[in-house]
Amino acid sequence: MPMSASTIITGTGRYLPPRIVTNFDLEKIMNTTDEWIRQRSGIRERHYVEPGTGSSDLGFEAAVRAIEDAKSERSEIDFIIFATLSPDYYFPGNGVLIQHKLGLGTIGALDIRNQCSGFIYALSVADQYIKTGTFKKILLVAAEVQSTNLDYSDAGRDLAVLFGDGAAAVILEPNRSGDGRGVLSTHLFSDGKHASDLWMVHPSPKNKPTFYPEFIANREYYPRMDGRNVFKNASERMPEAVTIALEHNRLTVEDVALLIPHQANDRISQMVARGLKIPLEKVARNIDRYGNTTAASIPIALDEAAKEGRIKRGDIVVLTAFGSGYTWAAAVIRW
Ligand SMILES: CC(C)(COP(=O)(O)OP(=O)(O)OC[C@H]1O[C@@H](n2cnc3c(N)ncnc32)[C@H](O)[C@@H]1OP(=O)(O)O)[C@@H](O)C(=O)NCCC(=O)NCCS
Repeated sequence: MPMSASTIITGTGRYLPPRIVTNFDLEKIMNTTDEWIRQRSGIRERHYVEPGTGSSDLGFEAAVRAIEDAKSERSEIDFIIFATLSPDYYFPGNGVLIQHKLGLGTIGALDIRNQCSGFIYALSVADQYIKTGTFKKILLVAAEVQSTNLDYSDAGRDLAVLFGDGAAAVILEPNRSGDGRGVLSTHLFSDGKHASDLWMVHPSPKNKPTFYPEFIANREYYPRMDGRNVFKNASERMPEAVTIALEHNRLTVEDVALLIPHQANDRISQMVARGLKIPLEKVARNIDRYGNTTAASIPIALDEAAKEGRIKRGDIVVLTAFGSGYTWAAAVIRW
């Protein structure tokens, strides 16, 4: 009997567009201050694309780096998963765009729409395909361009200062060595009664005509957020998900080498650490440099941790996310 496979990450890569926008830059275009942003979120700067660059372009750059890091050939990739809330087009999704940009064969391309939980949701899908032997080398890309549709007026400034653009990608392959490395489990959750706490409603095909003057005049095409509710739920749900994930694997927080929470707000990350009683040294925190890059935030932090040697072969790495939906999730990986 062949050894059953686990899913290992064999390569990671990230790409941030070069333009850095500091809190002081935002002070010049909107009614905010560096102090307000830093105190509430820990963010100092974020990256913005130049107009004309889409999330598929950022994803392409990250994918090239991840493929190189995995020492793979593009032709070996047999499936694509693309997680984003900001695809280039209403349709088709970014999966096919990156398939074409990378010059891959006519392999399947799946789009995942789970916002800030997108990476862990996508990882859980990839994990099933690899474990069952369906695919042998999956490219998972997460990328966002959010800077082009943020409301810098007082009505949207709470949200506008938090978000940034960026991308990261990973390569997933089977591990049949029996050494225990790989994705140990993924845990997915949702609660749609909170959909309106963080959403972007227009344009909506529910309306006929879909584009009508009032929603444009009322600036209702911007994302909107009930920050307090999101903060409260994120701070509770992420520790809950991590506890479930660790218990499932008979592990404790002492076993964790690195916790990578979705970078929504540094105060939320600190609350998650406190809730789990995990020291902050074991928590990935890079929101000061990138802001909230939604689906891309966890794989960006994962790539940084891997490249900086912060995680080593055999380490327990725990991912957790929370976001619009609400959806939330956790994953445990033996690196
Ligand atoms: C958005 C968030 C930072 C606001 O913090 P908060 O502690 O709830 O806000 P506060 O009560 O301290 O401040 C609210 C005040 O600041 C003002 N304000 C909002 N955004 C501002 C900004 N960018 N700059 C300056 N003032 C701002 C508000 O208008 C409000 O003013 P008022 O009291 O005169 O009405 C916080 O709720 C948060 O981080 N929530 C989670 C958001 C998140 O992570 N979203 C993504 C999830 S994936």
